[in-house]
Amino acid sequence: MKIALIGYGKMGKTIESIALQRGHEVVLKIDVANAADMTAENLQKADVAIEFTSPHSAYGNVMKCLQAGIPLVCGSTGWLDKMEEVKQYCRQHNGSFLYASNFSVGVNIFFEINKRLAELMNPHAGYDVRMEEIHHTQKLDAPSGTAVTLAEQVLERVERKKGWTYHEDAKNDPSLLHITSKRIDPAPGTHTVTYSSDIDTIEITHTAHNRDGFATGAVLAAEFLKGKTGIFSMKEVLGL
Ligand SMILES: NC(=O)c1ccc[n+]([C@@H]2O[C@H](COP(=O)([O-])OP(=O)(O)OC[C@H]3O[C@@H](n4cnc5c(N)ncnc54)[C@H](O)[C@@H]3O)[C@@H](O)[C@H]2O)c1
Repeated sequence: MKIALIGYGKMGKTIESIALQRGHEVVLKIDVANAADMTAENLQKADVAIEFTSPHSAYGNVMKCLQAGIPLVCGSTGWLDKMEEVKQYCRQHNGSFLYASNFSVGVNIFFEINKRLAELMNPHAGYDVRMEEIHHTQKLDAPSGTAVTLAEQVLERVERKKGWTYHEDAKNDPSLLHITSKRIDPAPGTHTVTYSSDIDTIEITHTAHNRDGFATGAVLAAEFLKGKTGIFSMKEVLGL
């Protein structure tokens, strides 16, 4: 498979190494210094593009790939406000798009455990639920995209929670799910969901040891997306 990498930072480099190990070819590498090379003509030399840049640049890059008609795997977080617009464009133009706030197999299994735990805890009002995420200090968005996904999964199932917040002064509002974000190097990503009552605590944690899980998942997603039309998630890639 021929891959275009948009963003050649920590994730872009790890994805390149995993893609090469899996027998793929990287035909285009775009970063800030050569952003002008991201033309439709260059993008169309690839079977699929993989985008990991930043919250500020993701939307523009995603739109360029969709306008060029190239299937796109996107992992940049912190730009969810534009997601619906992108999906609508993709549907209207028969494009091919896969976004995941977290590509690791382990986290996607963790998502399923989180949903099931939330269903079990819904009737038990004695338990309050909160979340914590820890990432390296270069991370630009807070809370993490993964934490937002986990929070939305809880909110869909635990009726006593009406929204999520990361504001310290809203910490004790029982109707809100509080997310604490910590920035500690070199953490690639730790997420904990805690239910606690006066009697006991139930806690689930996923800890990434390195970036290989995210990169492998992104390459698996690209392999899945090649030749397909539509909007997909890691649930379909992993058959969860
Ligand atoms: N979905 C996941 O599984 C997952 C996992 C890890 C990181 N992320 C997200 O991926 C993104 C990148 O993470 P990272 O750790 O590689 O960051 P990074 O800072 O190491 O790399 C980002 C790269 O993108 C480049 N870039 C910025 N703007 C650009 C533009 N307009 N065009 C081209 N390149 C541009 C930067 O110069 C940098 O080299 C972040 O949003 C992060 O939150 C997602």
